[in-house]
Amino acid sequence: MAKAVAEGAKNNPNITVDLSYHIEAEALADYDAILVGSPTYNTQMPIDFKNLFEDASEKQINLKNKIGSAFGSYGWSGEAPQAVIEILKKFGIQVIEPPIRAKYSPDRKTLDACVDLGKKVAQQLSDKL
Ligand SMILES: Cc1cc2nc3c(=O)[nH]c(=O)nc-3n(C[C@H](O)[C@H](O)[C@H](O)COP(=O)(O)O)c2cc1C
Repeated sequence: MAKAVAEGAKNNPNITVDLSYHIEAEALADYDAILVGSPTYNTQMPIDFKNLFEDASEKQINLKNKIGSAFGSYGWSGEAPQAVIEILKKFGIQVIEPPIRAKYSPDRKTLDACVDLGKKVAQQLSDKL
């Protein structure tokens, strides 16, 4: 799903995409858009994400007016992507909702929605240039 989002954004020549499994809180400030892929485990997002956002909050990393969204696969309840979005909002990030969710594995339609999300974010960023 992350690769599909990245593919959509990369279609836009004005946009550079980093696809990362890990990022430090301080580095979040370097990006104009933050798109978080999160599975749901025990109704939650992974602890790494909680730690990341807690760290960003403690260090008062300014993420205001960046663009953000979340996506992810799940098994039966799938709370994590919306929970990520609620956190992004608290940082003042302009979020795109609803999050894209895939039950276990994304089908073609879901991957297309991911590509479209990447395109949409890239377009919104280009419009700001
Ligand atoms: C220990 C465990 C707990 C899980 N808890 C949930 C859950 O609370 N809600 C849910 O929707 N899916 C749950 N799942 C299913 C995962 O979200 C699902 O397998 C998802 O596709 C994993 O994504 P990943 O391969 O990107 O880690 C759980 C899976 C495991 C192994």
